[in-house]
Amino acid sequence: MSMENYEIPRHIAIIMDGNGRWAKKRMMPRTYGHAQGSKTVEKICEDAYRMGIEYLTVYAFSTENWQRPKEEVDTLMNLLRDYMKDCIKTSKKNNMRVRIIGDITKLDTDLQESIKKLEEASANNTGLKFQVALNYGGRDEILRAAKKFAVDYAANLSELDAVREADFENYLDTAGIPSPELLIRTSGEVRLSNYLLWQLAYAEFYFTDVLWPDFDKKELQKAIEYYNKRDRRFGGV
Ligand code: FPP
Repeated sequence: MSMENYEIPRHIAIIMDGNGRWAKKRMMPRTYGHAQGSKTVEKICEDAYRMGIEYLTVYAFSTENWQRPKEEVDTLMNLLRDYMKDCIKTSKKNNMRVRIIGDITKLDTDLQESIKKLEEASANNTGLKFQVALNYGGRDEILRAAKKFAVDYAANLSELDAVREADFENYLDTAGIPSPELLIRTSGEVRLSNYLLWQLAYAEFYFTDVLWPDFDKKELQKAIEYYNKRDRRFGGV
């Protein structure tokens, strides 16, 4: 499939769903699906960048995912641990800038340190801007933003009238990052699951039955093809 005549979204957000079912189909533990899913993430980052996508944001762990069995939570955290470490090298090689969104203060301190190291090491890279949502919830993000905002404006209540959406956006974890034009969710589920509630206000939504570990460049191209068939009006006519 040639992408030549397609408009490529600047920013794509992905809900990587279906790892557990992918593993179950193979009589393997759910955690095997997550490991495979993590490999898919790395491939998609490279494909996305080659296709001209500037920003990619993936949902790795939600504020609700702590309710999963401890073994599964531990496996996911260890995968993310490995990822943050390996990615210092990978991001140097492929010029990718990595940023974590979500409340990382609730993560183990060693993981928080790895995250900071990776973010600092990759901060000046000019390739793909890759955001990983970790202990992320859209409502939690907006509430944390509102709290920081309240502190900043407590002494300047007279300025409140002049505050615009763009000013408030600076308090979100995604400050400085343009909103995604396209959301992709794999595995047939059709919900938002508390993902980027503010940022997805005008995004096109693409749902596919493909399970995340099976998602590849061809599937990404299909999503972009779908995006190009949409008539984006932003509330106008
Ligand atoms: C949803 O599938 C997937 C997750 C909750 C975890 C996503 C994490 C990864 C792909 C690995 C680590 C990420 C990075 C950035 C390296 P599910 O387990 O809910 O699938 P199911 O609905 O089939 O059970």
